Amino acid sequence: MTQTKQKPRILTGDRPTGPLHLGHYVGTLKNRVKLQHDHDCFFIMADLHTLTTAISKEKTQDLKNKARGLVLDYLSVGIDPNNCVIYQQSKVPQVTYLSAIFSNLITVPRCQRVPTLKDVMHDLGIKQPSLGLLNYPVLQAADILMVKADLVPVGRDQESHVEVTKEIARDFNKLYGDVFPIPNALIGDGGTLVGTDGQAKMSKSIGNCIYLSDDQDTVNKKVRSMYTDPTRLKPTDPGHVEGNPIFIYHDAFNDNLVEVSDLKKRYLLGQVGDVEVKTKLALAINKFLTPIRERRSQFEGKFDIIDGIIEEGSRKASLEAQKTLDEVLSVMGIK
Ligand code: TRP
Repeated sequence: MTQTKQKPRILTGDRPTGPLHLGHYVGTLKNRVKLQHDHDCFFIMADLHTLTTAISKEKTQDLKNKARGLVLDYLSVGIDPNNCVIYQQSKVPQVTYLSAIFSNLITVPRCQRVPTLKDVMHDLGIKQPSLGLLNYPVLQAADILMVKADLVPVGRDQESHVEVTKEIARDFNKLYGDVFPIPNALIGDGGTLVGTDGQAKMSKSIGNCIYLSDDQDTVNKKVRSMYTDPTRLKPTDPGHVEGNPIFIYHDAFNDNLVEVSDLKKRYLLGQVGDVEVKTKLALAINKFLTPIRERRSQFEGKFDIIDGIIEEGSRKASLEAQKTLDEVLSVMGIK
């Protein structure tokens, strides 16, 4: 009997670098919660990828905790390990074997042209990339191809890595035999959420994030200090709604559409103060976070459950990886 793949397979994930925030929710988590029901989903915690930029024992020692935190964030938004595979990259060593094979199918200048490399080097002030950093998209290709993913839901910034993956898959198939499906990026329509300071996106290093794990008081405080319309000095001044972070957030998180449109109308006319708009926003965000906090509290501190999820997911991912690696070595005639 031949086995047919029923559902399209998905692989995506995150580097375990810290807590996830509302921007992650809008940009990808919300979509993942949906996708897990009608796709065969693998969610990777890419800890080996963090080594490419953060090399210190302090950081590597903390990866285990960071991975646990990431699982907790996933569970809190409703990603369900009964519907998907959550795994830790370093627990699936076959991926490094594949990455070593793939690194021969791509040139150094091709890796140097990947736009994220320049961005990372610029942002972190890296003058010369390490071989590991240059290899970043190749390791990511190994993640994706290891499970023979059909779709890779990622933000725009990761599109170039999926391009590299496609090139490697095609080249491998041509050289050795048809092993890999050519995956496609699935660019989310959630867009990017601006930071609380109005900057283009939430970013941990800037400190303009509202985290999924923030408590009510923290949310209230962060919303109170949010950036609004700089041209508006008094509540009676007509204000701008378009591009105003408080209204971008209202649109994203306030399910009371009547309230939002009333606030917008009065804001444009100069008939409402920032305090009212912010108070209602904080309420809306706290309401949005309530079920997320409830799910978190079921798992918080329960390391045996969390570690069990990671172990079980990594075991499943390893089985897939080994199957693929066996096939790869076999078509290459190595094994
Ligand atoms: N590079 C991704 C990021 O920083 C994380 C990642 C690693 C990933 N491997 C992946 C994403 C495979 C999608 C598919 O966001």
